[in-house]
This record gives sequence, C-alpha cells and structure tokens, in this order.
Amino acid sequence: MAADTTTAGAGRPLELAEVERISILGAESIVCGFHLADYIWNDIFRSLAAASTYVLITDTNLARLYADKYQESFAAVWAHVNPERKAPRLLVHVLPPGETSKSRATKSAIEDWMLGEKCTRDTMVLALGGGVIGDLVGYVAATFMRGVAFVQIPTSLLAMVDSSIGGKTAVDTPAGKNLIGAFWQPKRIFMDMAVLSTLPAREFSNGMAEVVKTAAIWSSDEFDVLEASAEEVRAAVLEGQSGGSGSSGLTVASRSAAQTQLLRVIAASARVKAYVVTHDERESGMRGLLNFGHTIGHAIEAVLSPQVLHGECVAVGCVLEAEVARRMGHLSEVGVARLTRCLRAYGLPTAMDDAALVRLVGERRLAELKPKRLLDIMALDKKTVGAQKRIVVLKRLGATLEMQPTAVADALIAEVISAGVLVQPVPEQAAEQAAAVVVVPPGSKSISNRALLLAALGKGECRIRNLLHSDDTQVMMGALQAMGGCEFSWEDDGNTLVVVGGGGHLQVPPHELFLGNAGTAARFLATTANIIDATDASTVLTGNARMKQRPTGPLVDALRANGCKIDYCERTGSLPLRVHHDGRGLPGGRIQLAASVSSQYVSSILLCAPYAREPVVLELVGGKVISQPYIDMTIAMMAQFGCRVERVAENTYAVPAGAYANPAEYVVESDASSATYPLAFAAITGTQCTVPNIGSASLQGDARFAVEVLRPMGCTVEQTATSTTVRGPPRGQLRALSLIDMEPMTDAFLTAAVLAAVATGGDTDGVTRIRGIANQHVKECDRIAAMCDELARFGVATANHADGIDVHACALGSLKPGVPSVHCYDDHRVAMSLSLLACVSPQGAEIRERRCVGKTWPQWWDVLARDLGAPIAGADPAEETSAEDAKADVAKADASIVVIGMRGVGKTTLGRVAARALGLVFVDMDEHLESEVGQTIPEIVNGAGWAAFRQHESRLLAQVLTQTHATGALVVCGGGVVEEEANRRVLQQHRARGGPVVCLTPNMQHVAAYLNRDRSRPAYAVTSDINDVYARRLPLYAECCSHEYLVDKALLATGNAGDDDERPGAWAVIERDFVRLLRFASGRDLNRVSLAHPSFFVSLTAPDVRAYLPDALPRLTAGAHAIELRADLLLHAEAFASADLADAGTADLFVHYVHRQFTLLRHFSRLPVVFTVRTVPQGGAFPQSADALRMRLLHSAVQWGAEYVDVEVDSLAPALYAARQRSLVIASFHDPSGTRLRWAASECEFADEILARARACGDVAKLISSARSWKDNVDCLDFVERNHSAEHPLIALNMGYEGQMSRVTCPCLTPVTHPLLTAAAAPGQISVAQVHQARALLGLLPAQRFALLGTPIQQSPSPAMHNAAFGALGLPHTYRLLETAAADDEQVAALLRAADFGGASVTIPHKQTVMRLLDALTPAAERIGAVNTVIPVDDGKGGRRLLGDNTDYLGIVDCLRQAQLDCTGTADGRLPAVADARALVIGAGGTARAALFALHTLGVRSVVVYNRTAARAQELVGEFADLFDSLGSVESLEQAAEAGQLAYIVGTIPGCDLMIPEALFAQPAGVALDMAYKPRWTPLLEAAQKHSGWTVVHGVAVLVEQGIHQFEKWTRLTAPAAIMGDAVYAQYNAQF
Ligand SMILES: NC(=O)c1ccc[n+]([C@@H]2O[C@H](COP(=O)([O-])OP(=O)(O)OC[C@H]3O[C@@H](n4cnc5c(N)ncnc54)[C@H](O)[C@@H]3O)[C@@H](O)[C@H]2O)c1
Repeated sequence: MAADTTTAGAGRPLELAEVERISILGAESIVCGFHLADYIWNDIFRSLAAASTYVLITDTNLARLYADKYQESFAAVWAHVNPERKAPRLLVHVLPPGETSKSRATKSAIEDWMLGEKCTRDTMVLALGGGVIGDLVGYVAATFMRGVAFVQIPTSLLAMVDSSIGGKTAVDTPAGKNLIGAFWQPKRIFMDMAVLSTLPAREFSNGMAEVVKTAAIWSSDEFDVLEASAEEVRAAVLEGQSGGSGSSGLTVASRSAAQTQLLRVIAASARVKAYVVTHDERESGMRGLLNFGHTIGHAIEAVLSPQVLHGECVAVGCVLEAEVARRMGHLSEVGVARLTRCLRAYGLPTAMDDAALVRLVGERRLAELKPKRLLDIMALDKKTVGAQKRIVVLKRLGATLEMQPTAVADALIAEVISAGVLVQPVPEQAAEQAAAVVVVPPGSKSISNRALLLAALGKGECRIRNLLHSDDTQVMMGALQAMGGCEFSWEDDGNTLVVVGGGGHLQVPPHELFLGNAGTAARFLATTANIIDATDASTVLTGNARMKQRPTGPLVDALRANGCKIDYCERTGSLPLRVHHDGRGLPGGRIQLAASVSSQYVSSILLCAPYAREPVVLELVGGKVISQPYIDMTIAMMAQFGCRVERVAENTYAVPAGAYANPAEYVVESDASSATYPLAFAAITGTQCTVPNIGSASLQGDARFAVEVLRPMGCTVEQTATSTTVRGPPRGQLRALSLIDMEPMTDAFLTAAVLAAVATGGDTDGVTRIRGIANQHVKECDRIAAMCDELARFGVATANHADGIDVHACALGSLKPGVPSVHCYDDHRVAMSLSLLACVSPQGAEIRERRCVGKTWPQWWDVLARDLGAPIAGADPAEETSAEDAKADVAKADASIVVIGMRGVGKTTLGRVAARALGLVFVDMDEHLESEVGQTIPEIVNGAGWAAFRQHESRLLAQVLTQTHATGALVVCGGGVVEEEANRRVLQQHRARGGPVVCLTPNMQHVAAYLNRDRSRPAYAVTSDINDVYARRLPLYAECCSHEYLVDKALLATGNAGDDDERPGAWAVIERDFVRLLRFASGRDLNRVSLAHPSFFVSLTAPDVRAYLPDALPRLTAGAHAIELRADLLLHAEAFASADLADAGTADLFVHYVHRQFTLLRHFSRLPVVFTVRTVPQGGAFPQSADALRMRLLHSAVQWGAEYVDVEVDSLAPALYAARQRSLVIASFHDPSGTRLRWAASECEFADEILARARACGDVAKLISSARSWKDNVDCLDFVERNHSAEHPLIALNMGYEGQMSRVTCPCLTPVTHPLLTAAAAPGQISVAQVHQARALLGLLPAQRFALLGTPIQQSPSPAMHNAAFGALGLPHTYRLLETAAADDEQVAALLRAADFGGASVTIPHKQTVMRLLDALTPAAERIGAVNTVIPVDDGKGGRRLLGDNTDYLGIVDCLRQAQLDCTGTADGRLPAVADARALVIGAGGTARAALFALHTLGVRSVVVYNRTAARAQELVGEFADLFDSLGSVESLEQAAEAGQLAYIVGTIPGCDLMIPEALFAQPAGVALDMAYKPRWTPLLEAAQKHSGWTVVHGVAVLVEQGIHQFEKWTRLTAPAAIMGDAVYAQYNAQF
C-alpha cells in the first residue's frame, strides 16, 4: 500500500490515494484503488519517462464524466511536482462509444489528428475507457512513430480484469473482430474502482463474467468469496451509484466493507491474469486457460452480437463448458450448479434459452443458435488445432484438468449445446452383460431444506451430504447466512456442506431477504424470522412476482395470534412480510394453525418451536390436514436433530423447548421421485439397479414405487430400510396393472405409464389403468395429456381421464418404427420418463428439450449414458412437429370415421354423402350385420331376441374397427350400439387411436316423425318412449364420441329458426356442413387462419346470431378471417336474461341454444369460428361462478369442431388444452385495468409470466391490456416483436381509445368490429377498413396495381367490382383495364414485372396464351387448361413467382350451391341429391371446361355435353371422362333430354341463339345457369324461368362470385361480397 498526501507547492492539496499494486512481467505496474486521478499524474510525472505531449483518448460517455477532472488534476499535480517548469501539453481526444469505434478508420483518424498536432516520439498515449478504447488506443500507441509510451486507465470492469492486462491491442475489420493488432504492453494500468459507480449495471455484470471465469479456473478460495459476496460486490458498485460519499475509498480507512470486498475481488482476478500473462505472454499454452467459457461463448457471440454482450455470451459458454467437463466425468454436478448460480447472482444469463437472452434478441434470433452452426464457428476459432476443438476442462471449481485447453470430440460438444438429446436403444446383450449398477439420485428438496434449517439452528458442526443444489436450497442458505445464524463452508469439492450451527442465535439481516420463488424457504423463514433476538428492528421477507401471489396468510395469522408482530407490506396474505422485533421473540405456548392449505405452515412452526419462549403446543384446525407425510417427515427429522415432538392428540403436537443438537453427519435421502427412473430403467431393460439410500423407512411417498408398482409388474424387488434394488423381468415381460391407485405417489405416475406402455407380459388385457392422479393435470404442464400425446408418438394408445390415464400396452416389436420426437412441455418428469421408453424402442427417440431435467436432476443424461449405458447423442430438433401433427400421426389421417346417433337422425344418408366426398368405403353396420348373419334385423330380433342381436353387433363392431375397416372407411353404427359396455369400449379405443367418432344430435321431433313412417326396423319396446330412450343414451353417446353434429332442418327454415317449415335445399346445407366437420375431425381440412400475414376475426355481439341472418353476416365479415362467437354474450338472449345457470335444466337449455347458434353460423359462413366464453372479471358477461358450465361449453365447442376455442389462462385451461383434439386453443388474459399487463422490457415480468402460462396451455397466446398512454402501443409492439412467431403466435394489444394503434400493429388474429354491429366487443375495437387505412398511412401496406387483361373489355364491370372492394376494406390498391390483343405485349410484361403488381384477371382471348408468362399453375388451372387469374406469390427466396389460377369454376360451384338452396321445387318433386343428378353442359370451349370441373367439384357424377361441332364435344368428353361415372356427348339438345331427366344445365356459349327444347326441363326442379350475361335473358334462362320449379342463375352472378375468389386470393382477406355484387349490378343494370 502506498499512501501519500502532499500539499507541497502551489494550488490545492493533492489527494493521493492508497493503492494496491500488482506485478506483471516483472514490474508492479498494475495499480488498484479508488479516486486515482491525482495519483495517476503524480505517478506518471515522477516515475515514468517524461513526455512532451500527453494524449488522453476516451469516449463521449467518459469524457462527459471524467475529462474535466483529469485535465484539472493534470495541471494541479504538475504544479506540485514541477512548480517551476512549464507544463507539457495535455491533448484530449473524444470518440463515439461502442465497438464501431474499434476500426481501422478510427485508428487512422486518430493518427492523422496526432500528426496534425505535431505529436512526436516522446508522446505518451493514455487510454481512458473500456476495452474498446483500450484495444484501439493501445494499437495506435503500438504503431505511432513505431511505438510510443502507453498507459491504460480501464474504466469498465471488463477492461480492468481482462482487456487492459496482457498487452493485446487490436481493431476490428469486416472479416472479424480483433483481426488486426499487435502486442504492446502498457507502462502502467491504473484501475480506479470509483469510476465503476457510473458504469451501467449491465456492463458491470458483463465484467463479472470474466471475474467468475478466472476464479473458476484458478482459485477455489476466490470462487467461494465470489459466491458468498455477490450481494456485497454489487452493493459496492450500486452504493457509488446512489451517491456514496465523495471520496470514500480513497484511503484504506475510509473504505466501506463492500468497497474493500470489491477491490479484493477485482485485484484477485487481475492478479491471476497478470500471473498467466507473465508466464505465457504470447499465448502459447497456459494463457489458453483464460479462454474457459470462450470456445462456446465466442460462437454464441458470433450469432448474437451486438445485442448480447461478450461477457454475457461467455457466462453461457462457461456453464456449457462446465457441462462438457461434467459429461466427461471430471467436474461434479455440484460444481456445475455452483458455477451456474454464481454467474446468475451477478446478473448473467446461464443458458442458451435464458429468459434474459429472449428479452434481448427475441426467440427467433435465439433459434439461430443451432449446434451445427455453433460447431462450424468453433472450427474457425483460434484455439482449434487442426480439426480438433479445444475446451478448458474444469476438474473442480478452481482447477483445470490440464494447464492448457483439452481436445474434446465434436460429438460431446454437440451433445451439450443441443437443445435435444437422441436416446438410442440399449442393445439387449449389452444390458444383460452390464453389471448391476448403483445410482444415487440427487437429494430430496424437502429434506434438504429441512436439514439446512435444522443444522443452522442447531448447536455444533454438521456435515450435510447429498444436499440438493437448487435455487431453492441456495435461497435458504443465503437467508440463513444473512441472519447470521450459522456458518457454511464446502468440503470435498463442494459435495459436503459443513454447517456450524448458531444454536438459534439469529440477528437482524443487513438487507431484505429476497427469496425468489422459493416457497419452502418463504414459509419456513416466516416463522424463523420471529426468533431473531433484537429490539426496535424489523426483517423483511420478499420474493418475486409469483411468490408475492402465493399464500402465506394462515401461517401469519397463527403467528400473529401467538403475539408476533408481522405486517404485510403489499398484498394481504402474501409476501413481502415485515417481521418486527421487539425483544419478545416467538412467544410459544398454545398455537392454533389452519393446516388445510399447506403442510409447510405446520412444518415451519414445528421447526422453530424449540426456540419459542414457552414450550409449544401446536393445534391444527380448520378441516382436513393436507399432506400429512410431510409433517411426519418434519417430526422425524427434528428427532434426528435431538428434539422429540409428541403427538398429544389427533392433530395436536407438543414441542419441548431447547436447542437442536446437530448430528456430526447428515446424509440427505435421495429424491424418491427421481429414484423411480433408474429403477424403472432396470425394469424395462431387464437389468438390475440399486438406489442405496432410499428404502422402506423412507418418509417420501414415492419410495413405495418399487414395491407397489414394480413388483406387481413382474420385477424382483429387494428393499431394506434404507436401500432398494430392482431387477427387471426379461425384456417384454412386464405385466399390465389393471387398476392402480397412485394417489400416494402421484409424481411417479409418468414412470409407471411408460412401463405400462410395453407391459404386454402375463395374461392381462394389456391395459394399465392409473387413477388417483387428478392433480397431475395441473403440474408443470398437464402431465396426463402430455403423456397421452407423447406416448402416441411411440404408437402407444392411451385414454385421458379426469383422475387418471389408461395405457394400452404395445409389444416392444410393435412400437412405432422411426425416431419419435418427444416434446417435454419443459417438464423434467416427462423427459426422464420417456427417455426410458426410448431405451427399448426400435430406433430410440429424440427428447426435444434435454435441459428441462435441470429442475431436479441436471446430470440425468450423464447418468443414463455413463452409468446405465444408454447410447446418447446431441439432437437438434429442427422441424417442430406440433402435438397436433403428432396426434394426426397416430390418428393416421385415414383412421376410419365412425358415425353414431339415434336411429332416424340421418346417419346413413349423411354417411353415404360424406363417404363419397371423402373417398371412403361406406360401411353400414346394420347392413353388414344382416349380410354376415344372413337374416334381416327384425328376423334376428324376433327369432333369437335382442340379446342375440346385440352380441352379433358387438362382435362385428370390434372386428370392423380393429381389423377389417380400422382405416379408410366411414362406419355408420346402429342407434343402440352404445347400450353395450363392450361396444363403448371399442368406440373409445378407436377414439383414443385418433379415429373420429361423430355423434349426430337430432331434433327429436324430426326423429319421432321419421320413425313413425319407417317400418323396416324393429320397434322400440312399447313402454319405452323414444324420448326416454334418447335421454338414456345421451350420456352414453357422449362417453364415446369425439365430435358432435346437430342435424336440425328447422334451423334453416327461412332464416327464422323455430319455424318448422323445412326449407328446400336445407338438407344440402346440412350435408355440406357435415362433410366439413368430418374433414376437420379427421384432420383433412383444419380450416385454420394462416398466421403468416395479418389476420382478423370479427366479434359478434348480438344475443342471437339470427340478428345478422341472412344478409348482414356476409357484409360484416368482409375482410375478416374468422368469426368470434361470444357465448357469454348469448346469455343476454331473452330466454336467459334472468336464468339461473346453476340449475341443471337451464344449463342444458343454454348449451343447446349455443349449439344451435353455432350450427347456424356454420350454415351461413365458411369462416372458422373462434368460440369464446368471456368471464366478467376479464371484461365479458359470463359469471365466474359458473365454471363447470363454462368448461362444458368449451368442451362442447371442441366437439362441434370450432377451429379456435378461447380459454382464459386459469384453472380450466390445462384440461381444455389436453382435450382440444383438432381445435386450437387461444389462451387469453385480459387486464381491463392496464396496470398488471405491462409490455416494456423493464416492467413486463407479469406479462412474461402470463405468456409462459398461456403457452403452456394454448396454441395461440392472447394478452390484452388497456392503454394508459399512447406509448403503451409502442411497448406492446416491442413485446410482440420479442415474443411473436409463426410457431408461437401471440395476439397482444391494448384496449381503449389510446390503444387503437396496437390493433393496427397486432401481428395476427386481431379482433375487429364492423359498423353494422351495434356494439363493439371491447373498448377501442376498430374495423378491418380502419386498420388498413392506418397501416397504409404508416407505410405498412403499400398500394398495389391490378388489371384486367383481354379484349374487348371496355364494358367489363371488373374495375367497378374490385375498386369497390378495395375501398370498402380501406385498401390503397387500384384496378384498371388493360385492353390488349396480345397477352405478352410490352405493357403486360411491364405490369407483371412491376414491384407493385398485385394481380390480374384474364379474359378472352388470353386465358390460354397467358400461361406462357407464368411460372406455375394451380392444379385446378392445370386440369381445366385455362387461367383467368394471375397471382404473384413469394418464392420464399425474396423474389416472386407468378401463379396462374382459375376462379371461373369456383364461381360456377358457388352459384350452383346457392341455387341448390334457393331451388324450391314444386309439389311434384325436388332437386335430387347431387350424386343422383344429371347435368348438361352446352358448349365445348374454355368455359365449358371450367363448367365440367365445377360439376365434378360439386359431386355430380353424370354429365352430357352438347356442342354444335360434335367433334369438339367428344374431344372434351375424352379429356374429362375420368372425373365422372358417366360423361358423354349428345348430337342435339333433344337427345340430351331423352337420355334422362336433367337437374343442372350450364350454358357456356356467349351470344347463344340455340333453340332450347322444353323437354330439357322435364324434371320438376332444376337449376339452369348461363355463363353468358349479355343479354340478361339468354334463350336458356328464358326457357328455364317458365318452369316454376327451376332456378335460374345469370352469368353476371358467376362473374361476381369468381371475382370474389380472385379478390380473396390476391388479398388473403374475406371479400366484401355484397359490396362487390352491388357495384357490378349497378353498372350492369345501367348497361342492360
Ligand atoms: N485486449 C484484450 O485482451 C481484450 C480482452 C477482452 C475484451 N477485449 C475487447 O474489449 C472490448 C469490450 O470492452 P468493454 O466491455 O469495456 O466495452 P466498451 O469499451 O464498449 O465499454 C462499455 C460501455 O461502457 C461505457 N463505460 C465504460 N466505463 C464506464 C464508466 N466507468 N462509467 C460509465 N460508462 C462507462 C463505455 O462508454 C461503453 O459505452 C471489446 O472490443 C473486446 O474485443 C479485449
């Protein structure tokens, strides 16, 4: 230490700091201290060679803070040192801060400036700044005049401990960082710790990464200090930031404890670097050690820089490289855990998916950290020798394996940096040969926490072994230390914790006790804090946001009642708590506690009770005591620490006063849940495994697993009081357990389920039914649903129950081939259990999120590979197969569809139509049975009786669904099929395998009427009224079905539901929508909104959708991609205005009402439905008290096939998510106050948490806040940018007028309103048109040009139609005519190539010739052989492709479908079903081709073509024959009529003057459509309209419909159809 204060000479007295010097390269040239300015100049002037000019180079940040001080000090010190001599020059040069300054250009600029200033060889250059300034200025000094004297004054922590030491200088080039530079040693390095007070907090952490790294490779003592003093070191820096005293630290005496610690830590780190540099200046060996964490860290930095800082990347690199060391068997898990926590304590990220990194760069960027890319970057690393990568391998904290980096195989690095892990099958022989293994799983968390508290309060020394190293235990230790109750130290490489107990003498901690989200610590310490011995003081216990929501109320109540003084600082009932110390401590005596919420309250009081003033008698009151085993555990452990608790009565415990006597050693029992994995490994692979420290005496529930699950499954289990050994039966011989209650060991059910998946041994039915695990629906994820989904990937069928799971075992050889990719839902137990199945599955499995095991057993993969012998490798799960796809996998899109429901509802009719539409084999079980048995059903029933009939039915059903028609069929069952238990099981199993089972729900009046007419089936027993039968069967249908379809023609009765007049064509709509549901249920067409572009859903607000039918609905859905049905708003319907939803009957009525509403929407719109039941607290109308009904509605919506179901992020969400089938769940959260959901990075903790929860239980997250100021919109957008991606879609916006902007920028599924809706669904909601107008103004929606190509086109209504549509939706686009006779003339080519080209319509004469200009055709355009629409599409490479499409045929299809509905027919007959109808096409040109394709699309099977030139008709027939059962040409129209009655006639000849024979209209009902629209009444339509049963369709209607399709393909928006129609008709009517 040097101390000097001199007042000699003139001016102010000098303030010469007391400093510490460090030696480097043989000289003590590193100087550390506080407030060094005077010291620096004094040292330079006195000790270094004199210079003519001093050049101080710094950046603007530092110049602002320190330049004046250095200049002033320069003059003052000179005056002292050389009072008589003129001062030399001090030139100051200031650069912009940041890495960009570290360039060749800046270097030249500095040099030019110095030359301009006439600096000579005796110049001294000083670098005042961080590493950027030091590296750059050092390089300037190294080369200026071939090298001038150089001094470093590092101001960032990183510069102090790293960049300023060692003489490496450099600048960056575009080719890479630090590529040009030199070694140039500074004469002095002055580290002024006082300047750290102005360093941004993040830069402080950045530097700490190097400090921690250095300790980790060099000194375990230093590491211990860093680990223990994170708070102090931070405080030393922060203290300064909050002002501090002006010169504190200048002298040793004036330093605070924190400052002393800070100096010590930095000096120690600098000393190591100096030592290493001294011994290896040019980095040929030992200096490579300093690169610990840098091999992987640099690769990460290369991808994430500059948003993520160097030290942050190194921190992640250190943890990963430590994991490499652990994987190699050198470093213990304790070492990895301590390193990780230490880095975290200094505010550093520690994993590649660290939340801090997500905040900094967003998930998309993070996803770029692919193992292959990182390995490629590492290959270029300077440390790589040849092809071999090198990593500094830690032996333990503070020591490395070698004195240089160690060569490590790529595969090993890949394994550690991969997100996933590939577990390969364990070869059977290898397993047999393997010796019996012993595995010690990590310590139990509950026991670890108790042991820590007991030993800390006890007297004497206690060595705790197998302590769990987790955040929770760390928090507990930190708090106990802060209370001064004990001393902790590590032995045995950190594997043993030595606790010197304080005998219960606790002090007031120096700061608040921050307990994170550690629930156990919070509860235990809430009592502990009361025994602190102090007066007039208090202790605050606080935690993170989640902790502040968790309850502590009952415990605080009990303590207060006992006389403790405790205040809630924020929310009543939760942390933060302020415990006041008034010298009374914990009074004790009789304490009453409500113990039905958490057993931790009980343990908390029991553990502290010996230190109460009076002996405690604890009485548990208030209902059933929860988790008694944990209370027993506490009492047993207290006994091990010398305190015997007496149970004096049921739920009453007496605790004697006195201190705990610490046992010399305490071994924490392993976690029994974790122990199930190695034991199950033995079971499933037929090997042997011992867990040496869990046995029959264990107090952990899961300790029973071996005896109660593994033994009955066929394993040999030997258990002593303290150990368990399991030997599995030969592979494939585990036995299923028909029913097992796992209530006492719920966490172990996943392990059991995995064993059950292959339990085909013995003579069981192979189904294991696990029950008693309802809580597992709401753990880290919905574990039951997760296991169902993930086992499905192995080909294992399961059934998900409210309180359990059924697992259908699959023979080992029958597990699905291929490598299943398992999703773990970030749940350690899912990952570990399924990794066991991977060990025996044919090609293993990829576990996608390997790191999730870190929660309880971070080294599980090492154990699995090293100890248990499973071959594992890194896996980079590239393509995310969604759970949806996985289910679809099992469902094998072709699993047969089963239709069930009451007889008479239309099963056979609908089934036939659907089978044809989907290309499935149609199987009617009744017919099948009759043909198999050789008798009609009435014959069987009358002869052998109902029972015999049912027997046949059961046998055949099982046969059909599991053997003959398991796939590729549509199977219609008899109405009573569900009456038999066996049949229900068959149906449920089919459903579990992913096969849709669709129940048709009838309008019972229709069924009764039908059955009265139908005499072909045996009657129901006289006594049973049909309604009774229905009522009885209803729940049975529900038990079996996956989907439900309402068949109710009355709904379509003239749009006025309730009126039973059947509307003709209604059945066609019912058929269409049934097919639509089946397409959805079987995964053929999920009708989802593409989330790659902005999209909208319009929220309906009326209590009855009929308010919008039929006309308003299409208008108000214009521009929208989906419709939201707000079931809560339907409660406003008159019938339910004052209804009591708790009444079961009313609830039934409401569900039925909602079903009818849903079905109506289906019948009138093809848009996907977002089904929502918004509760009152979230801004809706649904009472929160009616949760059961809400759940029922949401479930029903899934079964009705709602494409999206919105569920609020709450307790219902996980169960709904598990049961969502094909629907997507929108997990939503609304904050009408705008105070909780905040978006800005600095205050979004709650939003992040809700988002994580929403993602755990939803496919789309929806977070809605309320704007308090306009800026909230900017923050919201920022939040979206950080968190939204196509894979993880996020709807986020602000309600209210000020929040409207956020609706403009919402990335997908933006809720919108429409002027036709009387009320908006939420405040601030705007329309699609408004969003577009705003986007256009903001430059987010560039105007595009569209055109019609062809000739003659002057009278075309297309411009009017499309421009009206653009206008209605607020789009800035324009559509014009481009009259041209040659499709490929200049103008056309220019238009198509233009950047703002939006699309074109094509008409005669270019429909074929235009193809030459296009890049691709749609299949329809290709088949038809004509293009009428050109669509520019992204080519995925930043360019565009021109796609030719044909919407003419779609226009025809739509018009014919509409006509089917409009066709009233006559008393004599109605329009036949399409499959039975014949059609005539007149003409054989391009339009006729579209017409034929349209008829095929519609489902017509028999068509004739007439053309004047018969040869062309024949040609056409030849080309399209494959599309129809019968397609022929006729010579005349009369001949067409003679061949059979026609239901559809399509004219395609413009200006046709044919004679239309009356005979064409022989069928009483039909549709005539003429594509020609000039004149309005063509001969065909003239003739047709004379027949009252015939419906005519004008060509202009087709024009509008095809235009609508064009518009939608161009804009991806739902067209404003009505407005387009209005525009066309206005022009058309004026012309014709
Ligand atoms: N030469 C070496 O051996 C070596 C070793 C490690 C890193 N580096 C180099 O160091 C550079 C990074 O250094 P860095 O992290 O110090 O970055 P930096 O120099 O950019 O400093 C970080 C930021 O903190 C500001 N700052 C620094 N000290 C401050 C203070 N006391 N008060 C207020 N603001 C302050 C700076 O103005 C800057 O904005 C990189 O270019 C890296 O390549 C070199």
